[in-house]
Amino acid sequence: MTGWAAAWQRAVYGPGGWAHRPEGPAGHFRTSAHVPLFATAIAELLRRVDLALGSPDEVAIVDIGAGRGELLSGVVAAIDGELSARVRAVAVERAARPDRLAPQIEWVAEPPRSVVGLVIANEWLDDVPLDVALRHGGALRQVAVDGDGHEEPGDRCAEAEIAWAERWWPAGDRVELGVSRDEAWAVAVARLERGLAVAVDYGHLREARPPAGTLTGFRDGREVTAVPDGQRNLTAHVAIDAVAAAGEAAGAQASLLLSQREALDRLGLTAERPDRALASRDPAGYLGALQRRGSLAELRDPLGLGRFFWLAQGIGVDPVDILG
Ligand SMILES: C[S@@+](CC[C@H](N)C(=O)[O-])C[C@H]1O[C@@H](n2cnc3c(N)ncnc32)[C@H](O)[C@@H]1O
Repeated sequence: MTGWAAAWQRAVYGPGGWAHRPEGPAGHFRTSAHVPLFATAIAELLRRVDLALGSPDEVAIVDIGAGRGELLSGVVAAIDGELSARVRAVAVERAARPDRLAPQIEWVAEPPRSVVGLVIANEWLDDVPLDVALRHGGALRQVAVDGDGHEEPGDRCAEAEIAWAERWWPAGDRVELGVSRDEAWAVAVARLERGLAVAVDYGHLREARPPAGTLTGFRDGREVTAVPDGQRNLTAHVAIDAVAAAGEAAGAQASLLLSQREALDRLGLTAERPDRALASRDPAGYLGALQRRGSLAELRDPLGLGRFFWLAQGIGVDPVDILG
């Protein structure tokens, strides 16, 4: 038996693990990146970041946990004019480069050393393996798990984990230790020389941590029990306030925390109901307008993607100005 993070790491990212399957995340669940309009929003965000940076010779968009490049492909297609000649698009992904990806999209395993532009991480942090701990009799112990998902109390937690739990998850018997997510985000922010880093994910805040935790699995479009067997994705919600603090410690000068619904509104994404008369005059245009409206409703759904957090942190730019 091992701690959850080690078991998760092996089952999902190890050789033959779930993350390397050819169908990718889109074969098992739907994210904002699979809704075409999301790329339009991120393209608009990139335009604003570029302006805030004074339109440098090269402006990067770095997508961490890029899946199969769905979002970057959409952003590259949505950007035109002189900006498209200055954009460097980089996908950071554990899985192999997909066959049919636009050649200008770079595909790497680690974020570039120095980024001027936009770092975006949609549903990445919830996939970063974490350890789970139990509070018992004043002590904090790791939860140990085997390949079938059976759990038992393990070793005492390390000092850093105890400190994290006291600061960020002070109540409840079961704690999902967000240390690994904080560290992952700190690296992403530290790689930003100037620009904006945006994490979009489902999560929770200190005053409302889920008492039973959120660790779960997904396979074939269904939520399934969390078992580290390589046959499913594993995920747990993100302690987004802890991640924000880690980003600030790593150099972020300003932070903004919004819901996705609010962020899309601030980016000016709208979709008018098309006039019925358009249906006979321009059937394709009518259908396109209806699809846009449906996509926007899905991305803004207050019970679904719309309630995701957007954590935007800036270095040399102010997220409040950009998403104002
Ligand atoms: C839930 S999927 C999200 C994919 C895509 N961003 C989307 O929104 O559809 C998470 C992705 O992050 C990738 N990933 C997890 N940890 C990573 C890491 N440390 N570096 C690069 N990619 C990682 C996984 O392989 C997976 O493709």
